[in-house]
Amino acid sequence: MKFISLVPVLLFSINVFSEALPKAVKDPQDNPSTPEKIALGKQLFFDGRLSLNNKVSCNSCHSVTNGGTDGKMVSTGVDNKLGGRNSPTVINAAFMSVQFWDGRANTLEEQALGPMLNPVEMAMPSHDAVVEKLKKIPGYVATFEKVFGTENPVTINNVVKAIAAYERTLTTPNSPYDKFATGNKKWLNKPAQRGFELVRSVGCLNCHSGPNFAGPILPNGQGFYQKFPVFPGSEYDAKYELTKDLGRYEHTKNEADKNLWRVPTWRNIAKTGPYFHNGKVATLPEAVKVMAKTQLGKDLGKNEVHDIVEFLLSLTGEIPLQKTPKLPPTPKNVTL
Ligand code: HEC
Ligand code: HEC
Repeated sequence: MKFISLVPVLLFSINVFSEALPKAVKDPQDNPSTPEKIALGKQLFFDGRLSLNNKVSCNSCHSVTNGGTDGKMVSTGVDNKLGGRNSPTVINAAFMSVQFWDGRANTLEEQALGPMLNPVEMAMPSHDAVVEKLKKIPGYVATFEKVFGTENPVTINNVVKAIAAYERTLTTPNSPYDKFATGNKKWLNKPAQRGFELVRSVGCLNCHSGPNFAGPILPNGQGFYQKFPVFPGSEYDAKYELTKDLGRYEHTKNEADKNLWRVPTWRNIAKTGPYFHNGKVATLPEAVKVMAKTQLGKDLGKNEVHDIVEFLLSLTGEIPLQKTPKLPPTPKNVTL
């Protein structure tokens, strides 16, 4: 009898356990990580010389010491040009099966090709121009040779491979929630535990499921998309311009993709505001209210919002300590 009564408890723990964040990311077959490749990728990630004015680096908009984002409504690129969307965090991005708010890149490698050429981000005229610049920095040429071999090592594909290898190290295990999910109940305070129940019962987890709270684990390239707003017509549509940007449609031009967005992660959400693709919502309680209304057609009470926010706060993990890397210098007689 005793044995039988244990079964539901075991099942419950296994179910909860499966929701913890994996400790590490699996490398793709064509881009195995090495410590040297990761170190090179980190240098490139921090290096403004990948941009037209030598000032805007990936880290400018995805500060890895600051939640992997810039904290702005929308990002500013070269010459302070404003972009149209909020900068999503690079932290735990490696767990997402597609990249960008609208999922238009399948892998981190493919994603990293975009910003260097984006006129409102790094604004380089071509990938060849990026490679030509890097070839003028002897410190980089030597490191690329070490990492990728001596035959034509400085290529744009190797640049994005190194950057992606670095990004795959930016994961945040051991959040209070993960400690709770792996069996240590004391890690969630009572409001957070109620919040966990609420996100299940009101329906948030229909979309924000899985270990990343961003939908089911899918193979790379297959995104988990949902309409936003599912229930149009609330006051929030106009207040926060929710339907101005048509989301995935802007990329595919497919009618069915209008206002379709990738379901984003809740991991470290306390550190990645302001919220939504346009960054129009400044605080987490407001973001929760907007979601309940637009995605579930529900008005949450003050206490419910409070408890859900407490739960979301428990998803802040251990962000790996990042020291600014030393970059190879530009030789004195060279202009980039
Ligand atoms: C000027 C600011 C800016 C710069 C510079 C920039 N990004 Fe971004 N990044 C953004 C914005 C904004 C988005 C979202 C765009 C969208 O979804 O349409 C984004 C999206 C991403 C994503 C997708 C994350 C996710 O969850 O979907 C990754 C990864 C990323 N950037 C990495 C990089 C890398 C690597 C570099 C340097 C090569 C870089 N970014 C340079 C602003 C920037
Ligand atoms: C029908 C699917 C769906 C449901 C249900 C849903 N969400 Fe979302 N959630 C999304 C999508 C899609 C986005 C991205 C919206 C955008 O484009 O800005 C999002 C974004 C968010 C964000 C902002 C993320 C960021 O990085 O800016 C938060 C916070 C959030 N949801 C919380 C919740 C909460 C809490 C609930 C339950 C009250 C909930 N969601 C219910 C699909 C859903």
